[in-house]
Amino acid sequence: MIISEPSPVIASLSLQRCIEPGCRASYGINERLYVCSRCGGLLDVELSEEQIGEARSLRSLWRERRRSFDVPDRSGVWRFRELLPFGDSPPIVSLGEGNTPLYEGPRSASYCGLDALQLKHQGCNPTGSFKDTGMTTAVTQARLLGVRLLVCASTGNTSASLAAYAARAGLLCAIMVPEGQVSHAKLAQSLDYGAKVLEIEGNFDACMRVMRELAHDESIYLVNSINPFRIEGQKTVAAELAEQLDWQVPDHLVVPGGNLGNSSAFGKGFHELFKLGLINRVPRITIVQAAGAAPFANLFLKHERELTIEVPSFDIVNLDHPHTLASAIKIGAPVSWKKAWRALHWTGGQVLTVNEQEIADAKVMVGRDGIGCEPASATTVAGIKKLVAKGAIKNDEQVVAVLTGHLLKDTDYVIKYHSQQLTISEEGIPENEQRIVGNFSNQPVKVEASQSAIKKVLERVHVQLLCLLKCASRLLLRIWGRALIALG
Ligand code: F0G
Repeated sequence: MIISEPSPVIASLSLQRCIEPGCRASYGINERLYVCSRCGGLLDVELSEEQIGEARSLRSLWRERRRSFDVPDRSGVWRFRELLPFGDSPPIVSLGEGNTPLYEGPRSASYCGLDALQLKHQGCNPTGSFKDTGMTTAVTQARLLGVRLLVCASTGNTSASLAAYAARAGLLCAIMVPEGQVSHAKLAQSLDYGAKVLEIEGNFDACMRVMRELAHDESIYLVNSINPFRIEGQKTVAAELAEQLDWQVPDHLVVPGGNLGNSSAFGKGFHELFKLGLINRVPRITIVQAAGAAPFANLFLKHERELTIEVPSFDIVNLDHPHTLASAIKIGAPVSWKKAWRALHWTGGQVLTVNEQEIADAKVMVGRDGIGCEPASATTVAGIKKLVAKGAIKNDEQVVAVLTGHLLKDTDYVIKYHSQQLTISEEGIPENEQRIVGNFSNQPVKVEASQSAIKKVLERVHVQLLCLLKCASRLLLRIWGRALIALG
């Protein structure tokens, strides 16, 4: 079986199309556009329906490719290239992205009140976040278009990813970030990968505005998630996840929401897989936003009953001063909100918010599963806990939380949490919510460098563990006793 040749059928049939129902203008696949030139609507890459016949035979081909040593086959994105709009032998720029683990998270599950919880760890990508799955396709498209300078606005992860992929492609890149609001780890990545780092006084939304204006210049290529080729790469994660679950989709897929590209991509991914007959239902997509940066959750609250509409005509009310310590999703004007709405429409989805304390505690629980993630990713586990508590997710349902970034992306946050120094002091936050309590804090112990001193500390840990075990067994006995009484 030939497993490294791109499918010739699909690419030639792709085009770009405006998502606005009243417009639906279409454009060639190699036109350098970000939004519809007729109405300003968001653009989709559209694959031809004629693929359906062939797609059914692709499951085994995709799986087989994992055994190959060819770069496109090894990539968890390009392995699914029949779902992508690229022609024969595109000049692929890859760092071996995708193929990320789907972990069981038993401690996170019990924290949420679930029988089981699976964690799809997108932080295990080459630059430590999910952005790589979209950057490989966007930078490949840039090469096809012959652009030399790539740009993005970022809260840190998009920029780190772009910097790496541009370096890999030998292209120039400039990233714009809000000064003092990006974690050092993310900034360090961009610097080492050789990006021109532009810091502005202002937030992510201001960066995004400037970059969109700049991108009118023909020599510059914008690779934020408004670029439909980013979404194409990211949507393959839906196929990868479905494959990991033997093509049975979970009941719920839970993702954090910032600029709303990722939720849009999952929506498109599952919708296409369903249309292709590769899955027989779609998971319900839940988007979780930080309470202080939740324009989309506000919109959902107001218009939930209009979820029957695929692409809404009403508008979102942006926030001028979003705030959250989950800096990756500190966004007040999400660019892709209409596509995210469409994802909710397709999957019967929902949106909710979680506060800073909930995010911080949930993050530790993901860590206790030996996995870890950055704060923005932990909104998912915090959100699931809330939904289980109110009965919106049943404890025996199959739930997958998408962890979007690696634990090491924001160590400053981690250290502050564990040393009870995590605070958010923004206007509008009540004083009693400004300090985040380290409910599960785990502080380093200063100890003399002698055997006896160390043993004493370890004995204390041992006693604490035994106490914990005793409490847990007492609790179990009580539950068991109650169950026996209930059974008569
Ligand atoms: N999680 C992480 C770790 C992120 O970095 C982001 C977005 C999100 C979630 C939200 O994803 O925007 O697709 O809804 N980070 C962007 C950046 C904004 O510039 O790195 P989204």
